Amino acid sequence: MTTGLEGLQADCLQCKKCGLCASRNHVVFGVGNAQAKVMLVGEGPGEHEDLEGEPFVGRGGQLLDKLLAAVDLDRRLNVYITNIVKCRPPKNRDPLPEEQEACLPWLRRQFAVIRPKIVVCLGRVAAMKMIKPDMKITKEHGQFVEKNGVWMMATLHPAALLRNPSQKPGAFEDFLALREKIDELGCDVAR
Ligand code: URA
Ligand code: SF4
Repeated sequence: MTTGLEGLQADCLQCKKCGLCASRNHVVFGVGNAQAKVMLVGEGPGEHEDLEGEPFVGRGGQLLDKLLAAVDLDRRLNVYITNIVKCRPPKNRDPLPEEQEACLPWLRRQFAVIRPKIVVCLGRVAAMKMIKPDMKITKEHGQFVEKNGVWMMATLHPAALLRNPSQKPGAFEDFLALREKIDELGCDVAR
């Protein structure tokens, strides 16, 4: 059976709405449970993601999986993971504002189908786009804000944690806060 999300994915895989389509190997649509109440949003695919077609599958992704596992979350079971832009920016540069704008309708549609109760932004780019343009992630990570009935929080990007391991305990605290919020809202899936 084709669910809403699968139909959307099939359409997204054809997308040529911005210049990033030219150099991609795969459109990286997203991974996870379409019924998840928790959505994680990164910046955009890197090299490994572009080659495999799945978000966060490089070293950063392995670290993300560990952080998720520590609070009883699993990328295929009870969260949904995607990115602001679905195609890899060349040399992993930040996605340009116009690329983010071009791609945002896909994220909005994913949001409309999944209807998460909690959104975790992975890194500065996602946090600035989804929470507020002047987000100071090193100061404000781990803090939940409610926006239109959805609880939003930003944590440090896994790639930043690999570059800067001293920030790992702070990120771990953010995932503990995420677990607390899930329990408080009673919105776990398939635990
Ligand atoms: N970094 C991101 O922001 N997203 C990915 O999917 C992989 C690395
Ligand atoms: Fe389409 Fe987004 Fe890929 Fe640009 S990055 S081509 S808008 S899917």
